[in-house]
Amino acid sequence: CRLAARARLSVVTEEKMAIYFDEEKKIFYLESGCVSYVMQISQFGFLTQLYYGKRIPREDVSYVEKLYDRGSEAVVFGAPSRRYSPNVITSEYPSYGKGDFRECAFIPRGADGARVFEGKVKGFEILQEKPTIPGMPSLYGGGETLVVTLEDEISKVQVDLYYSVYDELDAIARRAVIKNNADTPLVLDRAYSFSLDLPAGSYKVITQYGAHMRERTPEVTPLMHGIMSVDSKRGATSLHSSCFMALAAKDADEESGDVYGFNLIYSGSFRLTAEQSPYDMVRVLGGINDFDFSWKLLPGESFYTPEAAMVYSGKGLGAMSRTFHDLYRGYIINKRFVNAVRPIVINNWEATYFNFDIPKLCSIIDTVKDSGIDMFVLDDGWFGRRDSDRSSLGDWTVNKDKLKGDLSALIDYVHNAGMKFGLWFEPEMVSEDSDIYREHPDWAIKIPYRDAAPSRDQLVFDLTKPQVRDYVVKAVNSILSQYKIDYVKWDMNRNITEIYSDGLPADGQKEIMHRYILGVYEICERIINGHPDVFFEGCASGGGRFDAAMAYYFPQIWTSDDTDANERTRIQYGTSLCYPLSMMSCHVSICPNHGTARTTPFKTRGDIAHLGATGYELDTTQITPEELAQIRRQVTDYKAMQDLVLHGDLYRLDNPFTSNYFCEELVKKDKTECVVTCYRRLMEVNSAVKRVYLRGLDPDMKYRVEENGMVLSGAVLMNVGLIPEFGGGDFMTAVYHIKKAGN
Ligand code: DGJ
Repeated sequence: CRLAARARLSVVTEEKMAIYFDEEKKIFYLESGCVSYVMQISQFGFLTQLYYGKRIPREDVSYVEKLYDRGSEAVVFGAPSRRYSPNVITSEYPSYGKGDFRECAFIPRGADGARVFEGKVKGFEILQEKPTIPGMPSLYGGGETLVVTLEDEISKVQVDLYYSVYDELDAIARRAVIKNNADTPLVLDRAYSFSLDLPAGSYKVITQYGAHMRERTPEVTPLMHGIMSVDSKRGATSLHSSCFMALAAKDADEESGDVYGFNLIYSGSFRLTAEQSPYDMVRVLGGINDFDFSWKLLPGESFYTPEAAMVYSGKGLGAMSRTFHDLYRGYIINKRFVNAVRPIVINNWEATYFNFDIPKLCSIIDTVKDSGIDMFVLDDGWFGRRDSDRSSLGDWTVNKDKLKGDLSALIDYVHNAGMKFGLWFEPEMVSEDSDIYREHPDWAIKIPYRDAAPSRDQLVFDLTKPQVRDYVVKAVNSILSQYKIDYVKWDMNRNITEIYSDGLPADGQKEIMHRYILGVYEICERIINGHPDVFFEGCASGGGRFDAAMAYYFPQIWTSDDTDANERTRIQYGTSLCYPLSMMSCHVSICPNHGTARTTPFKTRGDIAHLGATGYELDTTQITPEELAQIRRQVTDYKAMQDLVLHGDLYRLDNPFTSNYFCEELVKKDKTECVVTCYRRLMEVNSAVKRVYLRGLDPDMKYRVEENGMVLSGAVLMNVGLIPEFGGGDFMTAVYHIKKAGN
């Protein structure tokens, strides 16, 4: 193949470069942090995968492509022997139809209905600046980006594969852009973001499933022969599964072993698949869910897939998570707020639900005004005629009867109490019982001649329509510019059914799910960027759209509607596999807990909520003076440790899914300080003495444990461990603040 490199070609001596191309061997070496990703342009012009893992020297590793005659398998046309079967050759963007019978990344359908893509490398370029994706969030910054162009000479379909590397992080970002260079229309029936072939081995697959109030439960399954997938067909990443998958060596654990983590930077319907072929070859791939998806490209048009983040760790799941955390804190979370001290909020939802009036809200504000809490957030129920979840979504006008006049009086009250003011919205939704729906019934996603499946008695605005996006932006912006609002909670409480839009032709109906999400990104862009000083928190019935793309707009997201401290240990543990603690909003609520009827100590609720962006969500007029005093102490304690929550390295020391304990340690990057939070679910009589072995400290540094005055080296804390003092009873915590001695 003739390479038409459109940028510089590297030379062997430039050791420091992150992306290097060996012209003679036709091998690409991508170096990101401590990992190497090696690909080759094969003798037939295909882009094949040679190695992904711990950094290696730039040697010729093409010998790993060991091919045998596989009997009756199809072979590459014109190949010198039957050994060249696409079904055993690695591929960076596999397609169906030429003999690779494994899962493919790409199914284009030409005007005549043919679905074959034989993508050969036409050229490549190395970009110094990572390009953005039009209309979609993606990781910003980073090091170099390699763009390899594949083209099918017959169909004139072009695929640009993007690979971005990072100087300091063991992470690579991947995506694809598909261009129709033919003079007839093209339909994409599948266009994933990435595909990766790994060598044969014993792997386990780590995924996450969940439900409302039980989000992101990790599940570990041996990789079987055949296909294992997680997906969402709901138009949101969902409460029910996460757009995360990891393949780990069979014996890998939290601290050791090879782990390959994959996370889509996308908020809509997705699919992630792992496959082990009968020849034991392993493939991981994914992107937008191709179930009920197709996308038409007219001549000259392009389609942009969302980005996928890939993290390699040779040191187990813990190191994988820390890389994801650094990647997202450094390169995706809303830049304006990622490092900003997070406001400690008090939210009225679990305190009042819809049943509030001005005196009630003011009495809550009065009880906490001197506690150090920064922000009062008025949740659902302040607009239209909304006294239940049955009406008024879309009518974004203040309910002046309920608020006895105007919202301004309440905002002034909050500001005079020394706090900032936050307000709840659900911009993407419309109630059938609303003025806007009565005026524009065609603005909701539904099939006009069918009843819509009820879900929380609301419908989803058809954000594929520009006039609907304009309305939503105008309605929300009008409240934001009329009132002094410092914070917005942006909720989203139903998934899409009756997928139909009269704004699209019959053959465009399978584009709706993706177009909807592009519409969400557009309104986020216009509302959030239009109000740069307002802090936006994401939410979707709790953690129903907790993903990296949402983090681009919302530096923190309500993790779950389950505020029970015991349940939270699991939800927050699972969420931390991929996402940093600073992304998780965590509140202290009342007991017995509204979701579980369980009673846990107030201290425990605070300690667990401190492992995230903390806040309160309870009727403070109904708690004891001692509990009010605890709020003051907790707020002070949290402010002292917040820097570790925002920037520290997380070590998960005990897994609440497999033990009676949950234990997390946050270590300052320079290793001079850490906080260790230990939780014991149930008191056990005559039980073993629990030890907690710290991680990530400097073995030679001396540390002082604030709580007991002990001065111990990092080596002792990590190898001999701490013995947490829980006291008696169930659901107890012990927290240790540990600092370099002498500080
Ligand atoms: C679902 C959210 O998760 C809750 O926190 C609350 O805001 C309600 N919606 C309000 O309807």
